[in-house]
Amino acid sequence: MRWDHSLLRWIAAGPGGRGDAMAAPSPSRPDRAEALAWLHESDPARLEVLWRWADDVRRARVGDEVHLRGLIEVSNNCHRQCHYCGLRAGIRELSRYRMTADEVAVCARQAVEYGFGTVVLQAGEDEALTADWVEGLIRRIKEETGLAVTLSLGERSSAELAAWRRAGADRYLLRIETSNAELFARIHPSKAGAPSRADRLLLAREMGYEIGSGVMVGLPGQSLEDLANDLDLFARLDLDMIGIGPFIPHPATPLGREALQRSVADRIGDRELMTYKMLALTRLACPEANIPSTTALATINVAAGRELGLQRGANVVMPNLTPPKYRVLYEVYPGKPCTHETADALQGRLDSRIQGIGRRRGSGPGGRRRS
Ligand code: 5AD
Repeated sequence: MRWDHSLLRWIAAGPGGRGDAMAAPSPSRPDRAEALAWLHESDPARLEVLWRWADDVRRARVGDEVHLRGLIEVSNNCHRQCHYCGLRAGIRELSRYRMTADEVAVCARQAVEYGFGTVVLQAGEDEALTADWVEGLIRRIKEETGLAVTLSLGERSSAELAAWRRAGADRYLLRIETSNAELFARIHPSKAGAPSRADRLLLAREMGYEIGSGVMVGLPGQSLEDLANDLDLFARLDLDMIGIGPFIPHPATPLGREALQRSVADRIGDRELMTYKMLALTRLACPEANIPSTTALATINVAAGRELGLQRGANVVMPNLTPPKYRVLYEVYPGKPCTHETADALQGRLDSRIQGIGRRRGSGPGGRRRS
């Protein structure tokens, strides 16, 4: 069904039908042309329709629970040279750290105390995080906490992924960053001939992982057509988790410098608004996916980005549990909020922010729903 028909039918259902997607037949998802039309849309009144549509589908398909994932940034060492990332190899001004297994275990216990169901172990591509070390860490966290474990450790080998899955890891995150192969190659030097990220994700799924991916919005050279293709790819991969955030120029990186010099807004326009559109369209394309309201979004709109993301398609938040002395060094992009805030203080504000938008925190591991 075409978007214009489905949308008209949905609007015609009136305020009652519009407010409750469980009761009203939910319109079919936008196809590529329809998604592209939304990406071009700038009329705030029409965009309200998109926000409502995404929020209705979110409520109907994944409910009002906001799942909390405790993020632990295990190491900021990285041997890659990604053009956008503040952890890229060769940035000399950055002090590098690697947490000990004991330090990670303390953070995982904190996640339990806070009532989170999942910890996310994230790091740069750090070869010193050996297969055995990570495997031991996963087993330890599983034994000591029973939490769901999500890994976000970059492009690792299939042998490593298999070993970590056997050790009990539940989910693997690897953003494709953009579905535009030429743009991807331009901003990710080296690793020629390596399997694509999409192939790695599919392999991880075969091993039994839930798989997550996502993109940055507003990369220099990225077009709205690219974003529409990203949405198509999310649906074709049937992703379990999808993270979308605005590109934030980091002045110590080549892409950051390029963007700061020639205005990053040249093709995509307002990156914050475009990120909300992508969140909403992602919810429509993948109604049952777990979709975080990302830290990058909360960085470019500190006051309301987190909440607006949750109201326009997202259902997950990833509070940062990394010890503050390391957190300040995990500067993928500048200006991350809460860099200096203790996890305790954050915890105090989380519930009120979630309840403030009429939602409630999730319980349990909060895995992918399938209806
Ligand atoms: N701006 C926004 N997001 C970024 N990431 C890396 N660098 C930047 C940046 N400059 C995102 C990438 C990566 C995730 C961990 O952080 O999408 O996958």
